[in-house]
Amino acid sequence: MSGPVFDAVERAFAPDSIGRPVQLRGWVLRSRSSGGILFLLLRDRTGTVQVTGKRDVLGTDAFDAAEHVQVEGAVAVEGTVAADPRSPGGREVRASRITVIDAGAPFPIFADQTEEFRLDKRHLAIRSQEHVATFRVKAEMLRAFREFFDRESVLEVTPPVLSGNAAEGGAEAFRFDYFGRPAYLSQTAQLYLEALLFPNERVYALTPSFRAEKSRTSRHLTEYLHLEAELAWTDLEGLLDFIERMVVHVAHALAERRPTELAALGRPPEELRALAAPFPRLRYAEAIDTLSRKGLPVQWGADLGTAEERALTLEAQTPIFVTHFPRELKAFYMLPTSDDRRTVEAADLLAPEGYGEIVGASCRDTDVDRLTARLRETGADPREYDWYLDLRRHGSVPHAGFGLGVERVLRWILRREHIRDTTPFPRTPSRHTP
Ligand code: 4AD
Ligand code: MG
Repeated sequence: MSGPVFDAVERAFAPDSIGRPVQLRGWVLRSRSSGGILFLLLRDRTGTVQVTGKRDVLGTDAFDAAEHVQVEGAVAVEGTVAADPRSPGGREVRASRITVIDAGAPFPIFADQTEEFRLDKRHLAIRSQEHVATFRVKAEMLRAFREFFDRESVLEVTPPVLSGNAAEGGAEAFRFDYFGRPAYLSQTAQLYLEALLFPNERVYALTPSFRAEKSRTSRHLTEYLHLEAELAWTDLEGLLDFIERMVVHVAHALAERRPTELAALGRPPEELRALAAPFPRLRYAEAIDTLSRKGLPVQWGADLGTAEERALTLEAQTPIFVTHFPRELKAFYMLPTSDDRRTVEAADLLAPEGYGEIVGASCRDTDVDRLTARLRETGADPREYDWYLDLRRHGSVPHAGFGLGVERVLRWILRREHIRDTTPFPRTPSRHTP
């Protein structure tokens, strides 16, 4: 669009702006008028500023039109920046002209409405300051992850999201008809990342993953953003060192670059700045001993659920690795531990303060016969994985990888009660619209 060049709202707060003209455009956060003066709180991507308009300056028609702009209506403002201690941030814009772009219908969202209603109106609810702060932290977090991978010479690749294989087990895969053949929405990009590892050695991808889990919990989504990496020539220790460095890098980057948003959302940035490696590493066998002492007995071989993970991490200040899980609990592709065939070279990273699993990691088995047997045991047809087994037939090397749930990490970092608060349009068993 041609026409006047607009300023960003933050311009009004620059040291040299007092007395200067500005042209702003944005959305009305709040408005009131009294005694022929209109007060608008105007929002754009850079912040909010109070705009005042006088009837005798704007003219009666323009004043009336501006007065009828609803919450979330859109306006353009020409005016002058003034210092005013009563205004938010100590500045206001005294308008010489207010142009209504869209006066808007009455905004349906206001205080004290139910969560269900807000979820029905999610497309509008995401305009709140809380959502905006969350979007910014999430974007910065993705940037920090990419920056870390770049620094560690891990190449970003683009695996498919629909596939003929249900990599993490059929029960929790969304299945659909693909021109008369079964297909699945990806639960993990791992198998493709393993293929992409051979030409690239170190790869990662950020893709949506889908889980048809009926679990209505505060940490499950049916669609989530999955950050996965696959590294050649790495054993479990090396993999955990990598994950640790990554989590610390991201926490520090957020504390550095988004302190205001973090604080506003309830996470003091100092707490992230204080995060340091190494994270405690606890074997599954040790974890169940600890749980028994805490009054939560777990039989060897049983999975650690939400309650167990919560008990293990409630008092912790840093994430904790739980390693060497029983083989039966885990996927077919995990490498058995060399001195204990009952366990696999795998680890879950549990976030502190009770948040629980944020990363699933393992060394990958390279033995075709064992992989074939494990596929059969888990009820899969090895023929459908022949392409994957091919990877073990042509220059197979030790490698390991992990998957991190972006929204899980954000839920911990932002201390959100529910994972849906970390994503604009949450997908859960009961909701896939708007
Ligand atoms: O532990 P998972 O199932 O591991 C895998 O899928 C591996 N194939 C990943 C890999 O090695 N490339 O999932 C990895 C992570 C979990 O630790 C969790 O953070 C997240 O994905 N996750 C979910 N996040 C939100 N909602 C769900 N329903 C999730 N299921 C898993
Ligand atoms: Mg897992």
